[in-house]
Amino acid sequence: MWGGRFASGPDAIMEEINASIDFDRKLYIQDIEGSKAHAAMLATRGIISSDDASQIASGLDTILSEIERGEFEFSRALEDIHMNVESRLRELVGDAAGRLHTARSRNDQVALDFRMWVREQAKAMCTSIERLMNVLLEKAETHADSIMPGFTHLQSAQPVTFGHHCLAYVEMLARDRSRFADALERMNECPLGAAALAGTGFDIDRHQTSGSLGFREPTRNSLDTVSDRDFALEFLSAASICGTHLSRLAEEIVIWSTPQFGFVTMSDRFSTGSSIMPQKKNPDAAELVRGKIGRVNGSLVGLLTVMKGLPLTYSKDMQEDKEGVFDAAETLELCLAAMIGMIGDMRVNTQNMKAAAGSGFSTATDLADWLVREAGLPFRDAHHVTGRAVALAESEGKQLHQLPLDALQSIHGSITKGIYDVLSVDASVASRTSFGGTAPQNVRSQVNYWKDRLAAE
Ligand code: ARG
Repeated sequence: MWGGRFASGPDAIMEEINASIDFDRKLYIQDIEGSKAHAAMLATRGIISSDDASQIASGLDTILSEIERGEFEFSRALEDIHMNVESRLRELVGDAAGRLHTARSRNDQVALDFRMWVREQAKAMCTSIERLMNVLLEKAETHADSIMPGFTHLQSAQPVTFGHHCLAYVEMLARDRSRFADALERMNECPLGAAALAGTGFDIDRHQTSGSLGFREPTRNSLDTVSDRDFALEFLSAASICGTHLSRLAEEIVIWSTPQFGFVTMSDRFSTGSSIMPQKKNPDAAELVRGKIGRVNGSLVGLLTVMKGLPLTYSKDMQEDKEGVFDAAETLELCLAAMIGMIGDMRVNTQNMKAAAGSGFSTATDLADWLVREAGLPFRDAHHVTGRAVALAESEGKQLHQLPLDALQSIHGSITKGIYDVLSVDASVASRTSFGGTAPQNVRSQVNYWKDRLAAE
């Protein structure tokens, strides 16, 4: 493509380090779509003839179907998807192909193609995230009343409902989805027509190409346009944050499914066995979600690092922007699909959860709150009294509700038998009706809130 200036071809190693076709061939649809829009605009503006434009368009259609049928011969010598397509176009339609690159550069071309690819993926993430939200909402509804231990420091803290726990992830996923949606808003500007870096002297219509490629408007600064990869960075950061949430849920599944916890049983479809230990059933899918998100985070840090030292505008370093994004998108999609399957299949062992919820003096706060409410103690004093009750129960190997009334009264005279109403895990969760609290009635109304909200979109 630049033979005029060069006396010899590239060294084999040069070709090896330079070529991106092995991965950027993924952008073929976007590349062809972008070229068709560009050619049509050039014809509208009288920059090329409409005959050339229609030859270009039909040649590009041929190339699209060749690629889709697996008949296209990609060449590393032609470096990237842009030159592979253009070179084949020249074989197909001759001189007209040579006019396609008028008022365009690979710099704005790649910025466009990659942005359109990321745009598709961000939309797909929104859809998959919503699917996972729905699976979690189903579980939350079924288990609005199922009691489990709530943890801080992974120590029993206060009883909660499993439905409430599922809804915690619905909230995280809703934010994840809105991060992708926000990124889509910001990337909704069309780079095409920024040309190499400075714009062009040809009388192009960037609003036309922007509109025909489904963007809100063209980008406003040509220098920024060809050097900006924020859209990819935002995609990766949204993917990393979402992935982090999936990984935390995966970690919980790993813990919950141990025989020691026994809170959930994973389906055979999402577990594996051991080749030596016949009793084993391992939550490999959950572990792999946890592990694979490390790769997604790595891609984010990788691209941030590629970009951080680059002066304006385009530098070839930026060709390194794609593989991490491709991998992150594929990985996150797979992890979301695995989570959808795992959570959908997961059996919740409500009895084990409830039994565990009662251990570890998890209703101690309820006892303290009762002393505040019924006996008028300042909370700090109530906390101290309750601590003594816990110590007594612990030394006698009992739960709080198993302590006899006289034992409790010996700790504080104002305790009456009404205390037993708040010491059960059922009473504890039922009392947590503050907005955002774990009470079953709250869980049910939050499930309805999310169902209505998702249906309204
Ligand atoms: N393959 C290149 C990339 O991915 C396309 C842009 C090349 N531009 C250039 N001036 N060499 O970034």
